[in-house]
Amino acid sequence: MTFHVLTIFPGFFRGPFEHGVVARAAQSGRIRLCVHNLRDWTTDKHRTVDDRPFGGGEGMVLKPEPIFRAVEAIWPERQPGQRVILLTPQGRLFNHAVARRLAQERELLLICGRYEGVDERVAEHLADEELSIGDYVLSGGELAACVVIDAVARLIPGVLGNEDSATQESFAAPGDELGILDYPQYTRPADFRGWKVPEVLLSGHHEEIRRWRRQAALAKTARLRPELLEKPVPR
Ligand code: ADE
Repeated sequence: MTFHVLTIFPGFFRGPFEHGVVARAAQSGRIRLCVHNLRDWTTDKHRTVDDRPFGGGEGMVLKPEPIFRAVEAIWPERQPGQRVILLTPQGRLFNHAVARRLAQERELLLICGRYEGVDERVAEHLADEELSIGDYVLSGGELAACVVIDAVARLIPGVLGNEDSATQESFAAPGDELGILDYPQYTRPADFRGWKVPEVLLSGHHEEIRRWRRQAALAKTARLRPELLEKPVPR
């Protein structure tokens, strides 16, 4: 799978893409990461990407022309399986179900919003969807793009060493619903400062361990994320 990122801070991605699962997936050729500098598609001497908002107001807005030009240069004829995603705080909430859906695509192009906003014509006429990674405002879509790429890349077959690790964890229930939180994990020492690991985990009884984990996961979900037990979350 290929991930394109369109940003005014291409250097931002050096760190995140050089570590861990994403870096290994790129090295093994399972994913391809292409970072594009939005300023490369400006036409003026100052390489201007933003302008003042019509109607007045604070801050600057990313102009549509360089963004459209960039996407049309990266994909001159957009094919099925090539999806443009605009990252802004106004987007639909990204979650594991969305990550699973995006992992089916061939290529994603993530547009990182900046400043006070992005000209709405990008959302209306260029992007296939607008996503937010949470109900808070970041200073730009770059961190959000890293989050989306990490969450999607690890669902691509062969990216995680152990295929089971992506199906056991939080939110990984099959079907349309989000799952529940992952069960609590412990490692050695069995007694740390007097806080003991639940006895059952040391017992070697696989069925009892499985039951305990299921119960503990449900209890933790009820305590920290009760809404997950109430309603399916739309994709
Ligand atoms: N850009 C700024 N805030 C964001 C958010 N919460 N999600 C995605 N992109 C953003």
